[in-house]
Amino acid sequence: MTKKTFPLSKKELEAVAERFPTPFYIYDEQAIRENVRRVNAAFSVFPSYINHFAVKATPNPAILRILREEGFGADCSSLTELLLAEMSGVTGERIMFTSNETPSAEYRKARELGAIINLDDFTHIEFLEKTVGLPEILAIRYNPGPLKLGNSIIGNPVEAKYGFTREQTLEGLALLKKKGVKRFALHTMVASNELKTDYHIETGRLLFEFAVEIKQKTGISLEFINLGAGVGIPYKPEDTAVNYENLTSALKEVFDEVLTPAGLAGLGIHTEWGRAVTGPYGWLVTRAVHRKNIYRKYIGVDASMADLMRPAMYGAYHHITVSGKEDAPFSEVYDVVGSICENCDKFAVQRNLPAIEADEVSGDMLIIHDVGAHGRAMGFNYNGKLRCGELLLHADGSVTQIRRKETPADLFATF
Ligand SMILES: Cc1ncc(COP(=O)(O)O)c(C=O)c1O
Repeated sequence: MTKKTFPLSKKELEAVAERFPTPFYIYDEQAIRENVRRVNAAFSVFPSYINHFAVKATPNPAILRILREEGFGADCSSLTELLLAEMSGVTGERIMFTSNETPSAEYRKARELGAIINLDDFTHIEFLEKTVGLPEILAIRYNPGPLKLGNSIIGNPVEAKYGFTREQTLEGLALLKKKGVKRFALHTMVASNELKTDYHIETGRLLFEFAVEIKQKTGISLEFINLGAGVGIPYKPEDTAVNYENLTSALKEVFDEVLTPAGLAGLGIHTEWGRAVTGPYGWLVTRAVHRKNIYRKYIGVDASMADLMRPAMYGAYHHITVSGKEDAPFSEVYDVVGSICENCDKFAVQRNLPAIEADEVSGDMLIIHDVGAHGRAMGFNYNGKLRCGELLLHADGSVTQIRRKETPADLFATF
């Protein structure tokens, strides 16, 4: 079970909304920092560790700087994400560049920053060599295919477009060694939003055993393994968060069992978590502006799926509370909807909630939980919708704007 909380009282939230009208995202800086410290402490059982935060989850320099200060790097998937990492002060091998169907301009920028390039396909060995040259260190993204089942969001590895097959990984590493590459790493990414600790431990075992086979077959001792991401968060109150210490102590046991006897005890562990880092510490605040009773009861809010598309895209559950009515009885059943001309523009379907007052100025403020990752980032502009801004709540209770709302001029700037 997970208690769904929000760091501001109704009065405090009203004061924020007077300065920054709804809808907006708000992130809790202190809670993010404390979470990162817990992650780093749990992984300190390994010879070395770094999480390259998945920039795609929360691509905001203010957030990336906080994470950098706490020792995280960045996982980038595009040129723009590389630029964001650079402007946030994350450079060199603290950046891992995991992209696919990559244009040469993106490889060039990754090399310029000294990022660790993670190759997605065998043909990219030649492509990289021809276009920007081979760096001293390279990682290979391994797709275990039938050896591992994915989950519903990421899909089955056999059907996934990413990575090298097992044979290609062995062949690719041998080829890179022949071509003069000196340092090597292995990466995989097989799940998304997975709460089962065992799943992640099995992924570790798969990679550790492969590292031993790689050493036996190619003579290459990998420098590190990137376990990827996909650690879930408890979106539903009945879900339980992954216990970091349980995860890392079990992984360390497998590490000692598999890698140490093979002479690989010094292997570093990297991850590229996004969701588990910031997800639970971001909320979308939106005001109830209309109510409509037809065959169902609807509450229309001032945010839409343009601000948060996970519910529409995956049917994802996001918990909703009503500011100031946290303890009120759930007397109503509503669909909570945005204003886009798509019937999937619903933040909640047939959800039990307290009675909600709707008014453009004084309506109840709804708090949509667990949107600190893959929330604002997945927004879009369909129906000419202008995406909302982002706020940061600091440890002293002050709030600053870290991204303003879009304006029509932003939308028309590309004409
Ligand atoms: C390659 C890669 N790394 C890391 C992540 C971050 O995953 P999560 O936010 O679930 O931790 C993703 C998510 O889509 C990804 O595609």
